[in-house]
Amino acid sequence: MKHNKTNTHLKKGSVLFTTAILIGGIVTGVYLEKGATKMWGEEAGSFMLGLARNPQTVGAFAPCSTYTAVELSRFVVPYEDRKIRVLEVGAGTGVVTKEIIKRLEGYNYEFDVIEIDPDFCKTLYKRFGYNRNVSINAIDILQWAPEKKYDIIISILPYSNFSEDFVKSVLHKFTNLLKENGRISYVKTRVPEIMRRFFLRKRPEEYLRREALIENFKNKYLDEEVLILKNILPLDIIHLKVNTTG
Ligand SMILES: C[S@@+](CC[C@H](N)C(=O)[O-])C[C@H]1O[C@@H](n2cnc3c(N)ncnc32)[C@H](O)[C@@H]1O
Repeated sequence: MKHNKTNTHLKKGSVLFTTAILIGGIVTGVYLEKGATKMWGEEAGSFMLGLARNPQTVGAFAPCSTYTAVELSRFVVPYEDRKIRVLEVGAGTGVVTKEIIKRLEGYNYEFDVIEIDPDFCKTLYKRFGYNRNVSINAIDILQWAPEKKYDIIISILPYSNFSEDFVKSVLHKFTNLLKENGRISYVKTRVPEIMRRFFLRKRPEEYLRREALIENFKNKYLDEEVLILKNILPLDIIHLKVNTTG
C-alpha cells in the first residue's frame, strides 16, 4: 500500500460518527476549560485541534485519560540485563508516550513512536525530542519497516474507524514486528449502541467481518482484558501475549 494513499484504506466516514466526534470534541473543550487537564495531562488543546483536522483518523472524542495510559503501559517492564524495545502506534499528543517513558527511565531501552499526523508529531517532538532513547516517526504504521523486532507494542489505533483490510494488515504487521512471545497491549473503544446499529445498517457484512477479525486475534493470544470507565468513551484494554511459534 502506498504512503500517499494512506487514507484510502480508511472508509469514507459516516456523517453520524464524524458529527458525534465533533460534538464530543466541543463538549470536551468546555470540560477542559473547567480544569480537566488533570485527566488528560498537557497538550489536550493540541489534541482537539488534531481531532477537528481529521476526526476519522484520530477517532476519539478526547485524548486518552491518564487512567488509560497507566493501564496500557502496565506490561512495559524493562529488563535488568538487556535492552527492551518498545513500539507505540498512534501516539496522538503523547499521554501514553509519557507514561511509557516513565516506566523505562533509568533502564536500557529503545522506544519508537509512530504517529501518522505530522502536527501531532511536532507536539511529540516538543515534549520528548530531548530524549535520545525515543524516536518519533511521522509515518503510517503500514509503512514502518524496521530491521529490529520489539518486546512490546502499545497500540492506540481506533480500529472501529478502519476498514477490514486495514485492520487485517495492521494485525499482520504487529505479529511480524514482535519478538517471539512478545506482547501487544491495545485499546478497543466501547462504541455506543446507537453508533453500532448505524454501522450495522450501513455496511453490515464488512462491520461484522472486521469485528470478527479483531475478536479472533484477541482470543488467540489473550492474557488480560481490563475495562476503563474513566475515559471518553469507556474502553477495554486488551493485553495479549503473542506466541507465534505455537
Ligand atoms: C485515539 S488517537 C490516540 C490518542 C493518544 N493516545 C492521545 O491521547 O493523544 C489515535 C491516533 O492514531 C493515529 N493514527 C491513525 N491512523 C494511523 C496510522 N495508520 N498510522 C499511525 N498512526 C495512526 C491518529 O492520528 C491518532 O493520533
